[in-house]
Amino acid sequence: MADLSVKYMGLDLSNPLIVSSSSLTGTVDKVKLCEDSGAGAVVLKSLFEEQIESEAEQIDDESWPYPHPEAFDYMRQMGMRLGQDEYLKLIEGAVQALSIPVIASLNCVSPRWWNSYAEKLAGAGADGIELNISIMPRDYNQRAAEIEKVVIKIVESISKRVNLPIAVKIGPYFTSLPNLAVGLRRVGAEALVLFNRFYQFDIDIDKVELAPGYRFSSSQEIHLPLRWIAILYNQAGCDLSASTGVHDGFGVVKQLLAGAAAVQICSTLFINGLEQIGKMIEEVRAGWKSITSIQLPTSKGS
Ligand SMILES: Cc1cc2nc3c(=O)[nH]c(=O)nc-3n(C[C@H](O)[C@H](O)[C@H](O)COP(=O)(O)O)c2cc1C
Repeated sequence: MADLSVKYMGLDLSNPLIVSSSSLTGTVDKVKLCEDSGAGAVVLKSLFEEQIESEAEQIDDESWPYPHPEAFDYMRQMGMRLGQDEYLKLIEGAVQALSIPVIASLNCVSPRWWNSYAEKLAGAGADGIELNISIMPRDYNQRAAEIEKVVIKIVESISKRVNLPIAVKIGPYFTSLPNLAVGLRRVGAEALVLFNRFYQFDIDIDKVELAPGYRFSSSQEIHLPLRWIAILYNQAGCDLSASTGVHDGFGVVKQLLAGAAAVQICSTLFINGLEQIGKMIEEVRAGWKSITSIQLPTSKGS
């Protein structure tokens, strides 16, 4: 049988399928089920920066650099709330219970909270950290370059403090992704996760109020990350992990052919159940020959 093992952000994975951060990875029992279903690694549910803020009771609209109320809705409607200590317990429990890599996830919108906490993640035994950085530009005074600077600053300040591999999960809305990718790699990113899929808003026209949009991606959404994995593969100089729109094993094969080191899945597991992981692995196995038969140019960065 084909050996599907890959290396991703310095970690050894038995196969390239990673269960991405969501409520599917929010308890030890749930991540254990992911492992038992065949996942190569798991990214734990994110701890949100706003959660730290509210725990510290220091929410101050004036000093809040990048208002991100979306995260509150995201937490309330899509995810689950975890406090800092609970999160460390989740990591410890998951690392104890699982033999596959366990990647902790922090949602960041500014560099100010995470430095010392990130060290605690390492202490709790996480194999890596994924920084889910989502800064929503809502003010016309904010320049694109300033936002990119904040993204880089967050990664730089955490990578200086923590001796763990760091992956950075970003959204697709950047003007020059290759330039940002190289900047992130230079300050310590070992991998980029392309892309986060933001909380979808809708409007209920009967109640005339905001409503949550459909939570899950469709397989049609694979094309955007596929394009950027292909563009960045030979430039970023770090591993790339595809996220959004991968619903079957053939999608995984496509992303690997484009240059991804690993592939993250979420919506397809909510829709089809965790047994989908096994089915996808079989489909990857079927396509593995085409992956190993091509010689991708060596990944390099400037
Ligand atoms: C219910 C739900 C909760 C999620 N929670 C998180 C989260 O806490 N942190 C995060 O980085 N991404 C979160 N995501 C985004 C997923 O990890 C993933 O990036 C996104 O759904 C796109 O992948 P997919 O097309 O395979 O679903 C969540 C997605 C869903 C559907």
